[in-house]
Amino acid sequence: MTTIAPLTLADRDEWRELWHGYLTFYEASLSDGVTEATFARLVGDEELHGAIARDAAGRAVGIVHWLTHAATWTATTYCYLEDLFVAPGTRGGGVGRALIAHVRSWAEDEGCRKVYWLTHETNATARTLYDRVATGTGFVHYEIPLRD
Ligand SMILES: CC(C)(COP(=O)(O)OP(=O)(O)OC[C@H]1O[C@@H](n2cnc3c(N)ncnc32)[C@H](O)[C@@H]1OP(=O)(O)O)[C@@H](O)C(=O)NCCC(=O)NCCS
Repeated sequence: MTTIAPLTLADRDEWRELWHGYLTFYEASLSDGVTEATFARLVGDEELHGAIARDAAGRAVGIVHWLTHAATWTATTYCYLEDLFVAPGTRGGGVGRALIAHVRSWAEDEGCRKVYWLTHETNATARTLYDRVATGTGFVHYEIPLRD
């Protein structure tokens, strides 16, 4: 059975391992300073939220991070699901789906108008899951990178 709980300071080492797996999946690297600051904000900040999934043996097998923001098309907020990662050996067992459901339930309780997220168009595995639990919007994502 999978359990999902809010991230706490005690999860630091396991979170780091999953976070590095996620960055590796995206062939990305971040400085230790950013990783440490991100974890600190996930466990101690009002703006960033995180949850960790554990299997029946208590092993950490997945993470999800999200935040809310004001929006002009609602009097409440939108919930942006920023990161989702399941350990390779645990995939296909419903952990990803459960992590999204966790955020959805949190956002409903918070009164958010919707939960949304982005993925790369070539991420067929993730899109298989997303097509089952959400609606594709067809919007295309643009950005202007600025300094960190
Ligand atoms: C995307 C990801 C989070 C999915 O996690 P997961 O735990 O494997 O997903 P689930 O087991 O909950 O899958 C849910 C559904 O998607 C389907 N699915 C998941 N992986 C699949 C695959 N490789 N092929 C076909 N279907 C797949 C499952 O069949 C399942 O559908 P069902 O419940 O109707 O049978 C995981 O593959 C991952 O971490 N990938 C690398 C990082 C990544 O891409 N993150 C998302 C970035 S936007």
